[in-house]
Amino acid sequence: MPTPSPARVHEFTVVTNKAVGENIFSLTIKAPRLAAMLHPGQFMNLQVPGNAMSLLRIPLSYAAADPEAGTVELWYAVVGEGTQRLSEMRPHATSSILGPGGHGWSVPEDANACPRALLVGGGIGIPPIVCLARALSERGISFDVCLGATTASKLVGAAEIEALSGCGELHLCTDDGSLGSRAFCTDPAALLLSGKRYAYVATCGPSPMMQKVAEASERAGVYCEASLERMMSCGFGACATCAVETSDGMKGACMAGPVFDASKVVSW
Ligand SMILES: Cc1cc2nc3c(=O)[nH]c(=O)nc-3n(C[C@H](O)[C@H](O)[C@H](O)COP(=O)(O)OP(=O)(O)OC[C@H]3O[C@@H](n4cnc5c(N)ncnc54)[C@H](O)[C@@H]3O)c2cc1C
Ligand code: FES
Repeated sequence: MPTPSPARVHEFTVVTNKAVGENIFSLTIKAPRLAAMLHPGQFMNLQVPGNAMSLLRIPLSYAAADPEAGTVELWYAVVGEGTQRLSEMRPHATSSILGPGGHGWSVPEDANACPRALLVGGGIGIPPIVCLARALSERGISFDVCLGATTASKLVGAAEIEALSGCGELHLCTDDGSLGSRAFCTDPAALLLSGKRYAYVATCGPSPMMQKVAEASERAGVYCEASLERMMSCGFGACATCAVETSDGMKGACMAGPVFDASKVVSW
């Protein structure tokens, strides 16, 4: 995995902040220095103004960065007090963001190194998968994608992925069958892994989903990376709230991750 740039605090201005699904928002911020430093799969820690009692920043992955425009696009689900306040930030509002954080996806070099990849994303784990799909597309690498969510209104990212060159099979799954198959996205992923040759698998979503993808990849003998979500207090290696048990010992997700070699993850 590439050595990441050191995290810094950047000022940002909100460009747009709009709903793209049920309780899911797309936030585009202007933060030129940050936009130029990001690597797919990294995250950032965003300070949401408006509550003096809330000292913790919110860790978020990003879906897209445009170094020329100086913008970063993040997709987030409103789950609590901080993300609720974030959804109320209007264009021109300002705050600060700490990033880039951690290690992202290894992103194979080109189609010789990786003729075909499989990407599996679930729920609000889809944004870093979209970001990775764009990077693979730019490197001329073909990929198949399985996306899952509880219901159609919570499944984001399919249109963005489908529009990319290099996108092959795209399987959409919902728990209630309101979009695509009534199935878990691990079902088509396991089928694809048993029938096609992949050089690289990447997954982000709920832990049981990622564990299943990791196991199916291991059976197929394919290298798999998983982006793990942990509670994060500091986001820069100082507090140990984000520990992940790996076969190499305990690792902090904010510095050693959030993307890990899935075969080394012990505690999903
Ligand atoms: C590396 C990383 C990348 C992430 N990327 C995204 C993303 O791209 N989009 C997105 O919507 N969310 C992402 N998250 C999760 C996001 O950080 C939490 O949903 C957010 O911090 C909740 O803040 P809150 O104040 O609204 O919720 P709170 O009021 O603090 O909590 C509400 C609920 O969310 C849970 N929660 C809070 N923080 C986290 C956390 N860090 N991880 C898991 N659950 C948490 C709490 O246990 C509680 O159940 C990411 C988390 C990490 C660690
Ligand atoms: S969040 Fe503090 S050490 Fe990782």
